[in-house]
Amino acid sequence: MPADLSPIDKAKFVAAKRAVDFVQSGMKVGLGTGSTAAWMVRCLGERVREEGLKIIGVPTSSRTAELARAVGVPVSSLDDVKWLDLTIDGADEFDLNLALIKGGGAALLQEKIVATASDQMIVIADAAKEVAQLGAFPLPVEVIPFGWQTTKALIEETLVSMDVLNRDVTLRMNGDRPLITDESNYIMDLHLKRIGNPRQLALVLNQIPGVVENGLFIDICDVVIIGHADGRVTVRDINAGSESDDRIDFAPPDNIFSDMGD
Ligand code: A5P
Repeated sequence: MPADLSPIDKAKFVAAKRAVDFVQSGMKVGLGTGSTAAWMVRCLGERVREEGLKIIGVPTSSRTAELARAVGVPVSSLDDVKWLDLTIDGADEFDLNLALIKGGGAALLQEKIVATASDQMIVIADAAKEVAQLGAFPLPVEVIPFGWQTTKALIEETLVSMDVLNRDVTLRMNGDRPLITDESNYIMDLHLKRIGNPRQLALVLNQIPGVVENGLFIDICDVVIIGHADGRVTVRDINAGSESDDRIDFAPPDNIFSDMGD
């Protein structure tokens, strides 16, 4: 592992490196979005180039599609592939039940569609993403631009009856304009501080006209791989009720690290 990576990147990298061990030739694999998922795509590219691993990747964003092509991972669309063996993605927060907050990278809609169309979802994360209760990370909600201020008001009204600590809702910006997602929508960030009942909140948010999808992933993820800066990785499988520790100790080729941007 190169010494010049930051501790957080080392943690993300080892989680990603361990996760690609779950990928076998012939698999159709959902490729997540974000800095941790970008490590995973690079590690998959290494296996494709060096071992001749035969897979089809389904990217969850235009950024991931671009990276996958650049590192040699063949990509296809969900419409062509239809169902996937495995999706590997990052998360902004995960709890003990592997309920997740996702969407910090604004790709939650494609991420949720792809993960739901997979036999298994593995989340890869550094240890700081583990929380006792979700909500410190603002919950992203994708909304259509038409009537977004009305949708925002309806979200705020809905939150009054929800078990949350705070209720600020902000429109995510990209400079002085609203951020536009790959699906040409906007993102609202819900600053809730604590989400008492993620399952109920996820259901209620999706009832609001104008809301396309929310960043709560409930009962979608089966396995989390937690990376640490010293190379330790923990694999936790909630269905099997198992947890095992490992260590990633190797010197990857320099070309994995040649494109560090996400
Ligand atoms: C992208 O929309 C998100 O769901 C990411 O998976 C999440 O934000 C984690 O990103 P990092 O791996 O960059 O922390």
